[in-house]
Amino acid sequence: TRVAVIGGGQNCEHEVSLASAAGIAAALDPTKYRPVRLTIGRDGRWSDANGVGLALPHAITLLQSCAVAIPALHGPRGEDGTVAALLDLTAVPYVGSGVRAGALAMDKHATKLLAANVGVATAPGVLLTQDSSYRWTHPVVVKPVAAGSSQGVALVRTAADLGPALAAAFALDDRILVEDVVVGREIDLAVLARPDGTRAVAPALEIVVDGLFDAGTKYDGSADFRIPAPLHEAELASLESAAVRVFDALGCNGIARVDFFLTADGPVLNEVNTMPGFTAASQVPKMFAAAGISYTDLLDLLVTDALA
Ligand code: DAL
Ligand code: MG
Repeated sequence: TRVAVIGGGQNCEHEVSLASAAGIAAALDPTKYRPVRLTIGRDGRWSDANGVGLALPHAITLLQSCAVAIPALHGPRGEDGTVAALLDLTAVPYVGSGVRAGALAMDKHATKLLAANVGVATAPGVLLTQDSSYRWTHPVVVKPVAAGSSQGVALVRTAADLGPALAAAFALDDRILVEDVVVGREIDLAVLARPDGTRAVAPALEIVVDGLFDAGTKYDGSADFRIPAPLHEAELASLESAAVRVFDALGCNGIARVDFFLTADGPVLNEVNTMPGFTAASQVPKMFAAAGISYTDLLDLLVTDALA
C-alpha cells in the first residue's frame, strides 16, 4: 500500500513537520506500506522524495497514486484544514482531522469558545488585533492565535516586556491572545477516534520541565515526560472527560493531542493539536507506547482506520 507522507509546510513549524514526516516514513511497517514522501517548502512549493520540485497538479497526481495520505504537517497551511481540503477535493483518504476541526483547533480563540460551550475551562484572557489597546496590570502570557510549537509565545512579567512580546506575536499572526498565567501541572492527553465511533484515550503524559515548556525546551531535550502521569482517579477522569468533550466539540477525527494545565480547580485547556508532533520522541507515540502500542502499530492503526 502506497502511503503519501506529507511534511514541511509554510510556517514556523516547518522543521518540526519535517522531523515528524521523517519519523513516520521510517516507522511505517515496511511489510505493508511504501511511504511516498512529499514535502511542502517554506515557499509553498511541493517537492518529491528526491527534492525535485513538483507543480501542484503533479503533486496531486502523486498523491492520487497513493491509497492514503498522512499529512504530517503542523501549524498554519498544514494543520489548519487547508491540506485536508486539498485531500478532500482530490478524494485521497487521510489520517486525522478534516477541514472544520483543523481550522477550529488552529484558531486558539475559536477553541476557547467551543471549550467553554462544553464546560471546559480555559485561561481568562482577551483577544487583541493590531488596533486594540491593552494596558498591562499583571503577569500574562502573550501568544499568536494561530501558530505552534510555542513560537511567538512569551510570558510577560513586567510592563516593559509587553511591547517586544506583542511585536513577536504579531509577527506571526494578526490576532493574538493575552491570557492570565495558569498555575498547574502540564498534562497532555491523546484521544483516538475509531471508525465505529468509540474513543480511546492513551495514558496521560506529564511534562516535567524547569520553567516554561516553550519553543526552546520543547526541542532541546531538557524536558522530561512522565507517563503515565501520577494522577488521582478523579483527576484522570476529569481530564479524560474534558479531552474527549473538546475533541468532539471541535469535530476531530483520527488522533489529536489535547493539552491541559491541571490546576487546584481542575483541568484548564491549553490547546488542541490535530496533527501533534509525531517523531519517535514526541508525546503521542510515547503515550501509546506506554499502553503497549508501538509507534509502528499506532501508524498501522491510523492508516487502517483512515481506509475503513
Ligand atoms: N505543535 C507541535 C508540533 C506539537 O503539537 O507537538
Ligand atoms: Mg500546537
